[in-house]
Amino acid sequence: MEVIKTPEAMQRRALELKRDGRVIGLVPTMGFLHEGHLSLMRLAREHCDVLVVSIFVNPTQFGPNEDLEAYPRDFERDETLCGQEGVDMVFYPGAENMYAGDASVWIDEHALSGVLCGTSRPGHFRGVCTVVAKLFNLVLPDLAVFGEKDAQQLRIIERLVRDLNFPVEIIRGPIVREPDGLAMSSRNKYLSESQRKNALCLWRSLRQVSELFEQGERETTVLRQAVVDSVESVSEAEIDYIEIVDDTSLAPVDEIKSAVLVALAVKMGDTRLIDNAGLRP
Ligand code: PAF
Repeated sequence: MEVIKTPEAMQRRALELKRDGRVIGLVPTMGFLHEGHLSLMRLAREHCDVLVVSIFVNPTQFGPNEDLEAYPRDFERDETLCGQEGVDMVFYPGAENMYAGDASVWIDEHALSGVLCGTSRPGHFRGVCTVVAKLFNLVLPDLAVFGEKDAQQLRIIERLVRDLNFPVEIIRGPIVREPDGLAMSSRNKYLSESQRKNALCLWRSLRQVSELFEQGERETTVLRQAVVDSVESVSEAEIDYIEIVDDTSLAPVDEIKSAVLVALAVKMGDTRLIDNAGLRP
């Protein structure tokens, strides 16, 4: 497995691979890999000849009061896991190599970024779009796999690819959960024992809303309230948002007539967790 540490070397290798007609698959990550990331790698592997995993804690997608410094990192462990998964190349650049000190070109998405996580994390999706575009330009992937857990990010990246004509197929990777239902996330590491137990309220509330939907409820005020009540039954949980939105446009919906996304962000202490479920009539 090759470990490539500079953007120039990555792009050079990618160009060589393209010249040889190889199909490149990319799984972009911020490291501290877990089973969710590994499932994305396995999915990418099915569609490519050369599997590249990027590991880069992207500073531009963190707000000034967010956890950039504290974000968990363990490159040695990540490298071992990538090796075990048969990854061909790990792209592991430093922030100083990825952004010029006076970088002044950014990518802003304007239709889907202002809601859900975009409300509490202004500038987050600008950082995500910019770094993903840079990764596409450096790794030159034919396909890239992103997880459904970050449902809003996934839809924004699909827009980015469509609107800026990146020749990259985006593949959606299903959410991977712990045996008790908690969605896997690198940030789960921050949770204390009691927070970890209480964090199950996210999954529980999504199951409840799915059951109500299966029983025929279509009014989103009723469905949303069920999620709110379920999360609020845990005193430690602080709701950032709970929304039921159109699956494509992320616009609010009153009565469910086509696919929607139930999306929530909940803080357990200082740790903000997100999760979601789709409802399809
Ligand atoms: O989902 C993530 O881990 C990050 O937002 C991504 C896509 C790797 C961009 O930094």
